[in-house]
Amino acid sequence: MADLDWNRLWAESRKQQSWKGKTADDWDRRSTSFAKRHAQSPYTTKLLEILQPKPWWRVLDIGSGPGNLTIPLAKQVDHVTAIDFSAKMLALLKEKATTQNITNISTIQASWDDDWPHIGHHDIVLASRSLAVIDLAGALSKIDRYAGKMAVVVERAGNSPFDPELFAAVGRPFLPGPDYIHVINLLHDIGIFASVDFISLEAASIYQSFEEAWASSAWMIEDLTKTEQQKMHHYLDAHLEILPDGRFKLHRPKPPRWAVIYWHTA
Ligand SMILES: C[S@@+](CC[C@H](N)C(=O)[O-])C[C@H]1O[C@@H](n2cnc3c(N)ncnc32)[C@H](O)[C@@H]1O
Repeated sequence: MADLDWNRLWAESRKQQSWKGKTADDWDRRSTSFAKRHAQSPYTTKLLEILQPKPWWRVLDIGSGPGNLTIPLAKQVDHVTAIDFSAKMLALLKEKATTQNITNISTIQASWDDDWPHIGHHDIVLASRSLAVIDLAGALSKIDRYAGKMAVVVERAGNSPFDPELFAAVGRPFLPGPDYIHVINLLHDIGIFASVDFISLEAASIYQSFEEAWASSAWMIEDLTKTEQQKMHHYLDAHLEILPDGRFKLHRPKPPRWAVIYWHTA
């Protein structure tokens, strides 16, 4: 065990994974579809149930995206600072906050690797599904440094959120990349003994239209060719059930699962 360099294992596994690292421009391009896909996700409710937000919390939400967690958190805590390197994600977040008359959010456009400006005290630091870094040790140390009371990291568990059978059906190789076990082990190596909970989503999801069901899968595989699109169509036809009310139920072989890793810093 002592010989295993979890930071290197994480970096190497990330370089090989099917889902390639994204730039701020990539996330800008994906911002609208990402926000739409996650607008009503049970993931948010389940994570908030685990977090049990307190009214006095000041939260730092790193890789906030369009505010899937920032917005509901802001309704329950004193203040949320949202950091993201995608300007479009932050624009969507601000738009939602304005529409809902939420005034206790500040946003900072910055990357994990940047020197963040003086951002004041935060009780809780949250990095939900946003550890898109090569230097895992650097990111975890940063989280630990900024967290006044508790640090929370949500990472992939196993193949989630990808569907390996979809990759096989389309004919693409699937390499999942690193998951939460790298985070746990690296934390252990730096003397942090974190707790883990799991969020399991439903294996089947319901969509209003075929297009919506398509979008829920198509994001996983980049630059689908015409032939691959046809194969994906066949795959979805085989896994979709049309409900009596005309909606579409997509049966996934396995429910998506996320690991919620948390530790107290004070
Ligand atoms: C999958 S989304 C997660 C959004 C939200 N935290 C959630 O769990 O729903 C990942 C977010 O991290 C941001 N992100 C990815 N790499 C980043 C980096 N190097 N620095 C800052 N933000 C980054 C993306 O722009 C995107 O908004």
